[in-house]
Amino acid sequence: MNIGMLGSGEVAKALSRGFLKYNHSVMLGTRHPEKLGEWSSMNPDAKIGSFADAAAFGELIILAVKGSAASAVLHSAGAANLKGKTVMDATNPIADVPPVNGVLKFTTNLEQSLMEALQKEFPEARFVKAFNCVGHACMVDPKFKDGKPTMFICGNDAPAKRSVGKVAEQFGWEVADMGGAESARAIEPLSMLWCIPGFQRNDWNHAFKLLKQPAPMPNFPNSGEAAQRGGPTAFQWIKLW
Ligand SMILES: NC(=O)c1ccc[n+]([C@@H]2O[C@H](COP(=O)([O-])OP(=O)(O)OC[C@H]3O[C@@H](n4cnc5c(N)ncnc54)[C@H](OP(=O)(O)O)[C@@H]3O)[C@@H](O)[C@H]2O)c1
Repeated sequence: MNIGMLGSGEVAKALSRGFLKYNHSVMLGTRHPEKLGEWSSMNPDAKIGSFADAAAFGELIILAVKGSAASAVLHSAGAANLKGKTVMDATNPIADVPPVNGVLKFTTNLEQSLMEALQKEFPEARFVKAFNCVGHACMVDPKFKDGKPTMFICGNDAPAKRSVGKVAEQFGWEVADMGGAESARAIEPLSMLWCIPGFQRNDWNHAFKLLKQPAPMPNFPNSGEAAQRGGPTAFQWIKLW
């Protein structure tokens, strides 16, 4: 598949390497192609262009830019180049201020998310949140002793979520579909949680895993009903080898 990668930072580079490894064609979009010279020489199969070039090239678009620049980058990419396409959104609305005791500040509140705003602004693109709450080093083929980590995704378009789910599975994740675009209000702040051990003690080697209970749990309110919906769940950190 042709991948239009909007971005040139660590996330864009890590995901591009993953797509190339799994035999997709990739074009990275940036305002500054010159800064990708060394990376390009190590990844000669990747094409480099403007944001508009990458968006036009991509059958699947990946949004991997600074949160505060996401809207401007999508405008540069061009609404016509995004029309009808799935946009896998790895961005976070991180404010330009330092974290407080390891806790990042966001530009959004809990009634909002960056992805919902982008979806409203570009209604003909099909946004799916994914890959926003794990570090770039663990995005492709993560190796954890407790098994596959969970990729939380959400978005309004079911086929678009299936496409992104296939990417996440190909990259070694299990996928948890958390529903419509509003669920980005919960998935985006998971990046704050993910970063706390990093900022507090330089520990960046972890990912989230959603654990599912197959049978009703005793003394768990409404557990029978929850089990019918797929079982009660618990949440776990998993650590790299
Ligand atoms: N770093 C991680 O491990 C990680 C993990 C999960 C999610 N994320 C999220 O993924 C996104 C990308 O993160 P990153 O660390 O790879 O890179 P980043 O430093 O957050 O962003 C770099 C990209 O943003 C673009 N950009 C910045 N300011 C811009 C502006 N004023 N106008 C247009 N474009 C602008 C740059 O464009 P040019 O190419 O033109 O310079 C570049 O492509 C962020 O939203 C971040 O929160 C990061």
